[in-house]
Amino acid sequence: MHQNMKIAVVGGTGVAGKELLSILIQAQTPIENISVFASKNSAGSTINIEGYDVFVHTLEPKQLADFNIVFLAAGSAISRQIIEDHGIRGPIFIDKSSAFRMDEGVPLILAGTNDNALTRFDDRQIIASPNCAMTPFVPVLSSLLQFTSINHVDAVCLQSVSGAGKTGIDVLEQETRGLFTFKEPEENELFDRRIAFNLIPMIPTHGAMISDHTEEEWKVIDETHKILERSDFTISPTCIRTPTFHGHAASVTVHLKDDVSPDELRRALEQLNYVQLIDDPKQFQYPTHLDAIGEDDIFVGRIRNHPQSKKIISFYAVSDNLRIGAALNAYRIYDLIQQKIKSH
Ligand SMILES: NC(=O)c1ccc[n+]([C@@H]2O[C@H](COP(=O)([O-])OP(=O)(O)OC[C@H]3O[C@@H](n4cnc5c(N)ncnc54)[C@H](OP(=O)(O)O)[C@@H]3O)[C@@H](O)[C@H]2O)c1
Repeated sequence: MHQNMKIAVVGGTGVAGKELLSILIQAQTPIENISVFASKNSAGSTINIEGYDVFVHTLEPKQLADFNIVFLAAGSAISRQIIEDHGIRGPIFIDKSSAFRMDEGVPLILAGTNDNALTRFDDRQIIASPNCAMTPFVPVLSSLLQFTSINHVDAVCLQSVSGAGKTGIDVLEQETRGLFTFKEPEENELFDRRIAFNLIPMIPTHGAMISDHTEEEWKVIDETHKILERSDFTISPTCIRTPTFHGHAASVTVHLKDDVSPDELRRALEQLNYVQLIDDPKQFQYPTHLDAIGEDDIFVGRIRNHPQSKKIISFYAVSDNLRIGAALNAYRIYDLIQQKIKSH
């Protein structure tokens, strides 16, 4: 499979890019078909992925025109620049950044939840992968919508430092090591508070807010509505940076128009691709980050009705932000494109 595609990974030295390269190689994509691009800082170096030494190229304008598939994993500004350079009818771009997610002609695909939306893209041929904060809980909302309408969603998103890229991982590691040797953490550009042994209820920690909600919280609201193709319910997200390296969790309460029981929701979730239940309240079975890291599924548990209303249901969900929230979802989009090409 995927034998003849020429593939570029822009941002292949970052945490999401490296995870994607591993997934491509594990899926037997011929290594000679993959080219890796990054900033001038790492151009000319090699990175080791799954035992292969992969050369890193600098990105020159219009250089990507000869590729069939370009994965963009280098941030929104780079994605915008690349699309501007290539105009229309270039390669198919699978973009992990937020640059084009809300554009009307750009499908925003969470594989397993809205695969059908892949049919509608404009001449730029961009397909976007959603923000990693809401990927653990959107499939559950989609299942609830099979039963009834949603009135309101409260979502507390607990987000590991790798969601902020390799610098996030470095900062948590340095601060944690430093604190054990009684060193005061150095200032950094990413977090404006110490993250080691702390939680920061603001993502990003500095930046413009609209209606007192952060940019990340607006992504959760807008992208959830777009993926579910309905905006007739309100969402109150709180995005919190946690001192964990990998895995994003969400503690969610949904207010529904009609009663839905935990067993009804569990049965619906059992039908979904890429979702697993760890939810046996009597045996104290529930998911944690350690269940999700490195895995290909979203893990859901603690499903319960409010004690006074079966129209209110809560749950806890966790997934690997670098896989379901980024690289694996991008790969699954690539797989869907392959299937589409084959069926024509
Ligand atoms: N991390 C996650 O959980 C996650 C989840 C969903 C979406 N995303 C999205 O995925 C993208 C990458 O995020 P990340 O977390 O992997 O960040 P990262 O670890 O900071 O990596 C950034 C990558 O971009 C490259 N880059 C920077 N400037 C460049 C330039 N001018 N030209 C070409 N490449 C350049 C970097 O290359 P150097 O190594 O040379 O600096 C590096 O490969 C972002 O758009 C992010 O929003 C990330």
